[in-house]
Amino acid sequence: MLTNLQSLIPHLRPLISNPSSRVVILTGAGVSEESGIPTFRDAQTGLWAKYDPLELATPDAFARNPKLVWEWYEWRRALCRDAKPNPGHDALAAMEKFFARLVIVTQNIDGLHRVAGSRDVIELHGNLQRDKCSRENVMVERANACTTNDGLLVCPQCGAYLRPDVVWFGETLPRDALERAFREAMLCDALFSIGTSGLVEPAASLPRLAKQAGAFIVEINPAPTPISEIADAIVRGKAGQVLSELVRAMERLGS
Ligand code: OAD
Repeated sequence: MLTNLQSLIPHLRPLISNPSSRVVILTGAGVSEESGIPTFRDAQTGLWAKYDPLELATPDAFARNPKLVWEWYEWRRALCRDAKPNPGHDALAAMEKFFARLVIVTQNIDGLHRVAGSRDVIELHGNLQRDKCSRENVMVERANACTTNDGLLVCPQCGAYLRPDVVWFGETLPRDALERAFREAMLCDALFSIGTSGLVEPAASLPRLAKQAGAFIVEINPAPTPISEIADAIVRGKAGQVLSELVRAMERLGS
């Protein structure tokens, strides 16, 4: 197993020169951490310190206390709205030019990969900037929503509360996104797992699936994860710095 960026580069050379190379990039909250968005398992900050995210991001929590869950997501939306792509996002967008096909499969709901210019992004857990009717599951623009006297937004069609278009614990992932992510993982030549703890299924299965199908597995994370066990190459570091160095090294390969 390779454990640093320099030893990884020779293994990427055949991929860069291969006109039909396919790469999957699985990302988690660690990629957005350098944009100021706390990772999921970091301690919650400020007002929300006393809440456990795993207790707020559930259908039951929303049914019990829609206002609390809605306000928590408004806090997270504000964090994401103020966040900008960091060098890690930018490097992943730049990496597209080295491969015939580069697909980003993200667990993040902040939308920053697309803002950075990545063109093929599968959002496994949804997107915080979209709202949907909690009963009909259809997207609703805020401008068209009605407001209740306790400040919550409701669907103009059926009157049910709006909720963020994100996957909650215990909910199924968007079928098309998941099917495509599994297909891309089975067909790729290399899969990079970046900034994810690899603890949440079904996303955590994608690296194993790719490995079984013969792909080269790279992990970029300051800390070990269950994915470390199957990685062919591990680079222990922050995504922003490692990916920026990786793109510079690949550009030297390509010149
Ligand atoms: P976690 O918070 O579980 O893990 C973040 C990972 O990023 C950890 O492995 C950190 O070591 C790593 N990390 C932190 N800073 C980093 C940096 N600057 N560069 C690279 N890596 C860094 O977040 P996720 O793995 O994304 O699901 O969590 C997966 C899912 O768990 C989330 O999408 C969410 C939660 O349940 C839903 O909301 C459905």
